[in-house]
Amino acid sequence: FRAEIKSFPVCLVTGGAGYIGSHTVLELLNAGVAVVVIDNLCNSHMESLCRVHYIARTESQRLQQSGNVPPIFFHQADIRSAKSMNQVFEFWQSETIHVERAAFPVSIGEVSANKAYPMLDYVLNPAKRAQQSPQAKDSPTWGRITAVIHFAALKAVGESITKPLEYYENNVAALVVLLKTMKAHAVNVLIFSSSAVVYGVGHEAGITEETVQVAGKGSGGGLLTNPYGRSKWMSEEIINDYCVAEPSFHAISLRYFNPTGSHPSGLIGEDPKGTPNNIVPVILQAYQRRRSRVHVFGFNYDTSDGTGVRDYIHVSDLAMGHLAALRKATKQPDPVPEGEELDGQDPISNYNVYNLGTGRGYSVLEIIKAFSNAAGTAIPFTVGEARAGDLGTVTASPDKAASDLDWRAEFDLQDMCRDVFNWAAANPTGYETLRRLSTMSG
Ligand code: NAD
Ligand code: WQD
Repeated sequence: FRAEIKSFPVCLVTGGAGYIGSHTVLELLNAGVAVVVIDNLCNSHMESLCRVHYIARTESQRLQQSGNVPPIFFHQADIRSAKSMNQVFEFWQSETIHVERAAFPVSIGEVSANKAYPMLDYVLNPAKRAQQSPQAKDSPTWGRITAVIHFAALKAVGESITKPLEYYENNVAALVVLLKTMKAHAVNVLIFSSSAVVYGVGHEAGITEETVQVAGKGSGGGLLTNPYGRSKWMSEEIINDYCVAEPSFHAISLRYFNPTGSHPSGLIGEDPKGTPNNIVPVILQAYQRRRSRVHVFGFNYDTSDGTGVRDYIHVSDLAMGHLAALRKATKQPDPVPEGEELDGQDPISNYNVYNLGTGRGYSVLEIIKAFSNAAGTAIPFTVGEARAGDLGTVTASPDKAASDLDWRAEFDLQDMCRDVFNWAAANPTGYETLRRLSTMSG
């Protein structure tokens, strides 16, 4: 479906420099879509986007295509700021941009921000448009933003308990800013990063999208135990309400299960700032001797070996899930007005929700074993008390995404382990590694 996606000239990606965002930007470029990224870099590096563009060029050359891939336009901006958001949308909706002039001509290894990204200034400062060269005037052009993929958010469950207002401001208030800006500029397609966290506790294996969510603090059913989870639940409700009010607006929320892995090139990957809490970055740290061992949380769950079971999904599969969702949301006809017949078909909703998972669960011990096998060395661990709020088994039913979006995960656990180590071997300190090396080489 890459070819079909190509009809969308420009896609805006909030949080595009981050872990899942950068992998998705890469697939958009591979599909021929130009990308505008808004990111405040609070949990990411612009280096990720330089590498994304490099990978896309290399892949294009390898496939014996031209090597000319669409550009990435980067705006370092905060999605909480209505003013900044409006500026970005105004810039993009007001006129077409000369691609060669505004492209992101960065190769990996080129370091100094000013030297390596000479065109960035141009994109950030529209006034410089006046200085376009004669060649640039003849260059191809891109049109307006037609869709938004919204990744930007804070995502640490534990931190959300101590900083709830930051989470509601970045995850919920900023979503309202985004929707208002989209409305003002007539952009009508949104793909939203949601999470399995919205199912709360009380649901376990093979969770379907119809699983009831209960956002409050009461008992029974699904409970959302932390502000992060509630922020994602609230976001989905807001998007749903907006879709009801605006029938021409099409939105899809994608509920990711446990994303891991990295692009097989090893050039981009997960680079969490601060101390990681998720199991795969923790395993990696134990492998790198940056922590003594993995503490396995809980051994008494009702699972094959007593440890927690999760549905791990390769981030490149996740990225392709966004392209599938984009295709679906942009192809969707407007809903039939209430009371009108639809020739026996189901009514078409302009808001849909899909799980992105594999449907296959692995226990913590199975994950540690798989990573140990891939590393060729035993990763040390101890088994201890369960973590508060954790469940025994959390796996997706991926069937709705398969039938509606024609999407299924393709990578397996071995691929995830291989790619995590590829990334870590080349970038032992994440995106800082190459930057430091290159700075030293001048
Ligand atoms: P990430 O932190 O790597 O990416 C988020 C990006 O958003 C970062 O680049 C960050 O700098 C940016 N950002 C945050 N607040 C911003 C703001 N106010 N203005 C502009 N940019 C801002 O996280 P990720 O793992 O790539 O997650 C992406 C999305 O997927 C998030 O919405 C997250 O909640 C959701 N999600 C992640 C997981 C996971 O395990 N990684 C699981 C389910 C859902
Ligand atoms: C996986 C398994 C732990 C760390 C979280 C969020 C969820 C989503 C993905 C954003 C569990 C065990 C973990 C460790 C361990 N993110 N574990 N030792 O909790 O399934 O989901 O990340 O939306 O919202 O809640 O992922 O990687 O933390 O844990 O034993 O040091 O590993 O108990 O069984 P989780 P995780």
